[in-house]
Amino acid sequence: MKLLAILCGFVAFSTATILENGRVRETHSVDTKVAKIATNSTGWKTYGPNATELSYKGRWDDKHISWWAAPGLKFGFSGQNLAITFGNLTSDGVLVAYRVSGLDWQMSNITAGAAHQFVSPSTPGLNATLASQLPLVFELRVTNWAYGVQISAVHISSGEKLIKIPDYSRKIEFIGDSLMAGYSATYEALSGFGYNIGAGFGNVEFSITAYPGICLHDAECWGNARGQEYQFYRTVDTSPRAISLYGTSPPRWDFSAHADPDVVLINIGTNDNNTATPPTREQYLQSYLAFVPAVHKLYPRAQIVLMSLWNGFSRTGSSYRQSGAYIDEIYQVYQTYVREGYVHYFNSTGILQHNDIGPQWHPTDVGHIKVASHVMQYLRIKFGWEFGATGPEVQHETLYWNDEVGY
Ligand SMILES: *[C@@H]1O[C@H](CO)[C@@H](O)[C@H](O)[C@H]1NC(C)=O
Ligand SMILES: *[C@@H]1O[C@H](CO)[C@@H](O)[C@H](O)[C@H]1NC(C)=O
Ligand SMILES: *[C@@H]1O[C@H](CO)[C@@H](O)[C@H](O)[C@H]1NC(C)=O
Ligand SMILES: *[C@@H]1O[C@H](CO)[C@@H](O)[C@H](O)[C@H]1NC(C)=O
Ligand SMILES: *[C@@H]1O[C@H](CO)[C@@H](O)[C@H](O)[C@H]1NC(C)=O
Ligand SMILES: *[C@@H]1O[C@H](CO)[C@@H](O)[C@H](O)[C@H]1NC(C)=O
Ligand SMILES: *[C@@H]1O[C@H](CO)[C@@H](O)[C@H](O)[C@H]1NC(C)=O
Repeated sequence: MKLLAILCGFVAFSTATILENGRVRETHSVDTKVAKIATNSTGWKTYGPNATELSYKGRWDDKHISWWAAPGLKFGFSGQNLAITFGNLTSDGVLVAYRVSGLDWQMSNITAGAAHQFVSPSTPGLNATLASQLPLVFELRVTNWAYGVQISAVHISSGEKLIKIPDYSRKIEFIGDSLMAGYSATYEALSGFGYNIGAGFGNVEFSITAYPGICLHDAECWGNARGQEYQFYRTVDTSPRAISLYGTSPPRWDFSAHADPDVVLINIGTNDNNTATPPTREQYLQSYLAFVPAVHKLYPRAQIVLMSLWNGFSRTGSSYRQSGAYIDEIYQVYQTYVREGYVHYFNSTGILQHNDIGPQWHPTDVGHIKVASHVMQYLRIKFGWEFGATGPEVQHETLYWNDEVGY
């Protein structure tokens, strides 16, 4: 599978237009940038980025910079005004999704070092009646898998307060590559199956430790210096942004400071499965055989689900067939540990068809939703998890409709 294309598309600043089937997508981003808001300036009350009411989702470093795919920030607040000052270490122009309570996602481009006001009395859908139903919950997600934001300050109306929103009791950790990170999906990580599963439940916490081009085996793969065997234990991903800040000594992720997941979903190896970069079949197998017990040691309570890899589809005879990657190896890893009771095998074969894959060799938005829907039902049946999102939007801008009924 030619994931090589991944890194060619990487630029320092996010200025790309969103395309859909080669055409410019009609989007509705909100211009939220406002003039600089000084700490506790008239009308405002300012909180620092380490305020205990703020819940950071996914991986953030101690400078309050976000990493990996679809990291988020969530908190409650009183009043009808909310602004955030972003630090200079924000990727300039990065697209974020934000929403208030159960209203739909909105999109906005963030300027490094600037203040952005996300909520005001004129926020669509938010009137005084709703604003009086406390607390309003604010949630922000970075849509990309390599760009990030730095939180510098949170501002609300003076006299109002931030409110801590307790975490859901369940948590999923996703470990993967570009497939899970939503590479080439219309809203990238926000459209990827990792996010779709985590947010789809609506009642679980989740963290997506996935990055395009990354291998499991610790070797240079498609421009990533290290594999997940190493990088999963680090706060930051393998992006040029991370390297420019931390060089070759990225900080270790403090697992003890964060809740353990109940389920770890692993989809990794598509990038190892090639002839151009170092891992051999045997190296991949050995890496996976070592990785699973290492993750188990870290999270002794967690159920670990190994996904089989569809890899790609090709025309064979009068139809199409998925090529798969390391089908035997992943099943062998499963069989090695299944008797210990914490390892499960998710067979992805048959969920995607050849036309669920876009020109960049990754699932389309529809493909991501198919994978996510099947995994969610699997987790529900397997572990008795109920669906908590029973109405609010999960996938943004996937309302494809037809009102011509007279064909
Ligand atoms: C946000 O960025 C996108 C991509 O560059 C652009 O199409 C859109 O017009 C921008 N929106 C605003 C409000 O600046
Ligand atoms: C801003 O105001 C709040 C509440 O009035 C106060 O707790 C906080 O210390 C102030 N921050 C600064 C940096 O002055
Ligand atoms: C937040 O950071 C400030 C300045 O670095 C420090 O004085 C304060 O104690 C920290 N607060 C919390 C809740 O960690
Ligand atoms: C960004 O850097 C400039 C210049 O060093 C500084 O004046 C400003 O306060 C910084 N902004 C933030 C939000 O950190
Ligand atoms: C505020 O919004 C709610 C929900 O959409 C609606 O029921 C209510 O009538 C609105 N109130 C006003 C004053 O517009
Ligand atoms: C990739 O996986 C397929 C399916 O398991 C296998 O046949 C093939 O040998 C693997 N290729 C490489 C280069 O490891
Ligand atoms: C996975 O599913 C495919 C399609 O149903 C089937 O052919 C294959 O045997 C399954 N693999 C395993 C290990 O059960």
